[in-house]
Amino acid sequence: MSEKTIEMSATDKANLTHSEQHYFDSYDHYGIHEEMLQDSVRTLSYRNAIVQNRDLFKDKIVLDVGCGTGILSMFAAKNGAKHVIGVDMSSIIEMAREIVELNGFSDKITLLRGKLEDVTLPYPKVDIIISEWMGYFLLYESMLDTVLFARDRYLVEGGLIFPDKCSIHIAGLEDAQYKDDKINYWYDVYGFDYSPFVPLVMKEPIVDTVESHVVNTTRAKLIEFDLNTVNLSDLSFNAKFKVETKRQDWINGLIAWFDIEFPAPKGKKPVTFSTGAHSAYTHWKQTVFYLTDNLEAERGDVLEGEVSCAPNKFHNRDLDISIKYDFKAKGVDSESRSVQGETKYVMH
Ligand SMILES: C[S@@+](CC[C@H](N)C(=O)[O-])C[C@H]1O[C@@H](n2cnc3c(N)ncnc32)[C@H](O)[C@@H]1O
Repeated sequence: MSEKTIEMSATDKANLTHSEQHYFDSYDHYGIHEEMLQDSVRTLSYRNAIVQNRDLFKDKIVLDVGCGTGILSMFAAKNGAKHVIGVDMSSIIEMAREIVELNGFSDKITLLRGKLEDVTLPYPKVDIIISEWMGYFLLYESMLDTVLFARDRYLVEGGLIFPDKCSIHIAGLEDAQYKDDKINYWYDVYGFDYSPFVPLVMKEPIVDTVESHVVNTTRAKLIEFDLNTVNLSDLSFNAKFKVETKRQDWINGLIAWFDIEFPAPKGKKPVTFSTGAHSAYTHWKQTVFYLTDNLEAERGDVLEGEVSCAPNKFHNRDLDISIKYDFKAKGVDSESRSVQGETKYVMH
């Protein structure tokens, strides 16, 4: 038997849906936290943003939504916060307790186990919320819902959220080899036709690192959210985009990524990071949506479209995404190359 005291969770796990249990279980293991901690673009951006705003953190009450191993709580405590409350539903919080104690922050950091929505905080209001809630394609996992709940329930008027601005971006890419391998494989599996799998494969966006040279259009900002003002309903959106092809090439799909920005003191450049193919590696990689059609592009052709995104009705943490595209080719063969289509995806 372990001698550690495991504190009661404010949330009875048995009352959670199977998929919620599965979600929080996925954060129990240290491996996922190791990956996040080792993502230095991610972790150092939080640290730099807190250090840059040290004056604002001084003597403030800070809430760390989904504290995991406690790293952000310790950054805040080390940089002057009066008290930090870290909340997490996963058992990893028991490790956070040990780590916080080992590093001498037990009197500055209170860790509460349970869903943020269920815990009772030792302070009625907090001055600052810090949270690393971002999922693939920004919104996968729907953890932003919890941050908005925390904002509305606990943040003082004029309080700060770290980070507070985020945006999703999109561009076209040539990825014929990978797409062929992924799709065509199912037409001949040891001599058998497995093609009924093709629609399933097409439905799933692929999270992977994309080399920047395969991006062959201009980039477009799809949508941006200001966490100070965004509402839950805004997270289901339809957004139009328009990009221009940069060279003669095939466009086999679209690549999407997100950018993050933290509050900055007046007159200072904010800490930002991007998860795009043009930026340094992050564990979020990029998200690729293969289009039903392969577009035969010439330089200067225009690809317009509309992305609809909403949490899945049955599995709230999954995303239903649909992309309508209207490829407007130019030149003498424009009619034969122009294509319109729509592809529907589920991220789960
Ligand atoms: C992406 S991890 C970030 C961990 C840590 N803040 C870090 O930066 O390394 C998100 C954490 O939030 C927790 N979490 C997600 N939703 C939560 C909720 N509603 N209530 C409490 N914890 C939650 C997960 O268990 C997970 O440990």
